[in-house]
Amino acid sequence: VTPEIFQKNPLSLVSNEMNTLAINIMSLISSGHPTLNRVTSYYFEAEGKKVRPLLVLLLSRALSAIPVEQRNRIAIDEFDFSNDKKLAKIPGIGSLFDLPLNNISPLHVLHGIKPLNDLTKMASSFPEVDFDKERGILPKQRRLAEVVEMIHTASLLHDDVIDHSDTRRGKPSVNSTFTNKMAVLAGDFLLGRATVAISRLRNREVVELMSNSIANLVEGEFMQLKNVAIDNDVSYITDGGKKQLPLPTGKLDLPVHDYSVPILSNNLSHQEKVDLAFEYYLHKTYLKTASLISIALRSTAILSGANHQVIDECYEYGRNIGICFQLIDDLMDFTVSKKDLGKPVGADLELGIATAPVLYAWREDVSLGPMIERNFSQPGDVKKATEAVHKYGGVEKTRKLAEEYRDKALKNLRSVLPESDSRSALEFLTNSILTRRK
Ligand code: FPP
Ligand code: MG
Ligand code: MG
Repeated sequence: VTPEIFQKNPLSLVSNEMNTLAINIMSLISSGHPTLNRVTSYYFEAEGKKVRPLLVLLLSRALSAIPVEQRNRIAIDEFDFSNDKKLAKIPGIGSLFDLPLNNISPLHVLHGIKPLNDLTKMASSFPEVDFDKERGILPKQRRLAEVVEMIHTASLLHDDVIDHSDTRRGKPSVNSTFTNKMAVLAGDFLLGRATVAISRLRNREVVELMSNSIANLVEGEFMQLKNVAIDNDVSYITDGGKKQLPLPTGKLDLPVHDYSVPILSNNLSHQEKVDLAFEYYLHKTYLKTASLISIALRSTAILSGANHQVIDECYEYGRNIGICFQLIDDLMDFTVSKKDLGKPVGADLELGIATAPVLYAWREDVSLGPMIERNFSQPGDVKKATEAVHKYGGVEKTRKLAEEYRDKALKNLRSVLPESDSRSALEFLTNSILTRRK
């Protein structure tokens, strides 16, 4: 059953794909052990929002509206040498459309087809094909949507162990229903199967990007576990800033700051300390939440054969919508009831985590500093911090920041995607992040 906010019309564009998503995931995760199967399938049977696959599918559709001449490469999705007809499935021209190509070479399969040269040649040999009409979501993009949901669910299995959460997606969490051990192992299993499915996409750049998104989730979670922008007592080991792997796409994912060097010195002013904590928080938020979304959307664009500008904007869109999404998540921890949310509330402070609403309050009230530093561990800390958040408008200020990210995300969409029903659906989804209640 799809949650009601997504039953609205624009999103029904991909309802068929969304309906088969869970079924396909089930087939990707089946194992020989009945209990493992029960644990790994548990969350896929629940009512998740499935925002990530929804974004991948809608973006796939929106990207296919870009005329082929404007693409960098038309990737060949599948190529079947086994029969005389030599069938190639070409993304963006039609997911299920088999184009018989007589003069296709192994180089084409490896590097794709250049729209202006190869494709125009091919188009003239196949006048019956309308290259601009046949469009849709590619099989690889559908698989990507499934993989993204699997990685996300794996991270939630681990997250609920780390956070001692007893509820998730409106039902008892896996760790509370089964055991911590099974939850951890089931998460690892999902990651393993997700990795297999990613490598079968046979796109080296996408494999590298998606692998890095898994590493980013862990790094983000670790930044949250041990906040070196606030703790003064961390002993730092520096590797000279070499810790990030260079990525195929250059500027991507470079650290804002090398957090392996001491960054809080006593001669920082209060404002500077808060600014630094904010920068750390936003980078953590990117790694923990936005990175999976942005990298998945970058991969979606790569698979469509889009040019670099389009690929970059899709990535930026994912980054902005992802940060917006987490800001609202952090804000709802102060405003929504457990029943509405389907998971514990007020949990961040109890876990010792200072999110945007608290950082905004800290900016106005220096006395929050020591509480943040000791992770709200003394009796009364949580209550005082909550009061300060409400007194200094931490929730409203966080919402305003989320709106700025939403606006940037909408600009990203409009700058590269032609007008289409799928683009409108993406805009609708982007706007609905700010009004969501779970
Ligand atoms: C939810 O955040 C958690 C995440 C967005 C990421 C968690 C990542 C890990 C546990 C690292 C391990 C990763 C993998 C891929 C196995 P939250 O706790 O703020 O939100 P919640 O309220 O939904 O629990
Ligand atoms: Mg959690
Ligand atoms: Mg957590």
